[in-house]
Amino acid sequence: MTTSVGPPLLITGGRLIDPIQGRDAVADLLIEGGRIAWVWEHGHGERPTLPSGCRVLEATGLVVAPGFIDLHCHLREPGQEHKETIATGVRAAARGGFTTVCAMPNTDPAIDTPGVVELVRQRAREAGPLRVLPIAAVTVGRRGDALTEMEELAAAGVVAFSDDGAAVHDPRLMRSALSIAGGLGLPIIQHCEDPAMVRNAVAHEGWVATRLGLPAAPAVAEESMASRDIALVAVTGGRLHLAHISSAGTLDHLRRAKEQGLAVTAEATPHHLALTHEALLGDRGDAYGWPRGEAYDTNLRVNPPLRRPEDAEALITALHDGLIDIVATDHAPHAWEDKAVPFAEAAPGISGLETAFGLLMTALVHPRRIDLMTLIHRMTAAPASLLPAAYRDDGLGTLREGAVADIVLLDPERPWTVHAEEFASKGRNTPLDGCDLRGAVVATVASGEVVYAAEGADMPQGAAS
Ligand code: DOR
Repeated sequence: MTTSVGPPLLITGGRLIDPIQGRDAVADLLIEGGRIAWVWEHGHGERPTLPSGCRVLEATGLVVAPGFIDLHCHLREPGQEHKETIATGVRAAARGGFTTVCAMPNTDPAIDTPGVVELVRQRAREAGPLRVLPIAAVTVGRRGDALTEMEELAAAGVVAFSDDGAAVHDPRLMRSALSIAGGLGLPIIQHCEDPAMVRNAVAHEGWVATRLGLPAAPAVAEESMASRDIALVAVTGGRLHLAHISSAGTLDHLRRAKEQGLAVTAEATPHHLALTHEALLGDRGDAYGWPRGEAYDTNLRVNPPLRRPEDAEALITALHDGLIDIVATDHAPHAWEDKAVPFAEAAPGISGLETAFGLLMTALVHPRRIDLMTLIHRMTAAPASLLPAAYRDDGLGTLREGAVADIVLLDPERPWTVHAEEFASKGRNTPLDGCDLRGAVVATVASGEVVYAAEGADMPQGAAS
């Protein structure tokens, strides 16, 4: 694990929110050797003495939280470096407040051998101190007909298995995959869309797709796959994580699985929480004061598709209640030419790392549908709990003393406007271009190193006395 050995850094005067410890207090935090040396809550006795040469980061008025952890993003390397590289993806992650990102294996070649895993890890090391954790394919080449060498891939350090972008369709293979991965203590992350039901669909089967004349798939394409896989978990004892769930109907299956004590977890993306299929008509978010977008904006073409307002509402409630365990971005960068085509031909995906926090603050926290502590939990401690134990032992997702110093500084009130051309990601494919958001990432610290500071942010000052 990387640890920075720069000079000590004091983050002072911020409102420290650490959900796993139930901590929400104004505190100072000292980083030494890339780890959290101590946390001192204001008003609790004397502040411990500072080491000499300590730099100071003034955080008064800001929230100090564990760095965000994204269990689901697409970094496109190897093979699609024109869409994203690990280096650009990591910069985008840092701007979004993420200090750990899990890279999906739908690369070219797919991450399906230890050699490709090693390449991804090597590129990640070159890219800096952010943690890039590879996810391996379930099937060779993600073709759906033979399992990868899962034991070898686990030994190479992958944190999960997934054919994301496509479901593992063959139930026999899925059963074996759940058994083997379960024995290795790793989850299968399933892209829940039944390919036979989805075919060439590009939108949710409902009134919007009908009005726009778009090929559409019903929500049951997701629900039936989730239900089948939950049944397979019950017989294999494996671990299943449902990627980017989008339909209220899937939540019923998830609830029943959890009630039965099965090892089933789920994620929702910021776009499925905040946007609906009505955006395809141009109505992106009147409620947030956003300007109308264009109908057929290909930046809204995503798998699974944006669904009805009642689905988004149900997802928000489920995220609040913990039925949906985590937020994951499904950051899916694409090149301009992949989107500059008719809607039905556009590549699916939204470039989401850099807008995730602002969008969730604007759509969920400010309208009081979810509180800030809960949102931070779903982006930090909760995803950390789904990673192998070694990462939790290292302190990912918490600000306890001794933990690796992965920290984000947030201004929950700061307004800003999304300008896609300013993204660090190569993927400018966001439907939020030109939208005002309230809530911004001010700085990101990974393994004790400041890896991002917003323009105008007060960055570490020289030695403190
Ligand atoms: O919209 C999507 N884009 N959904 C996925 O599951 C895959 C992703 C991609 O890789 O572009």
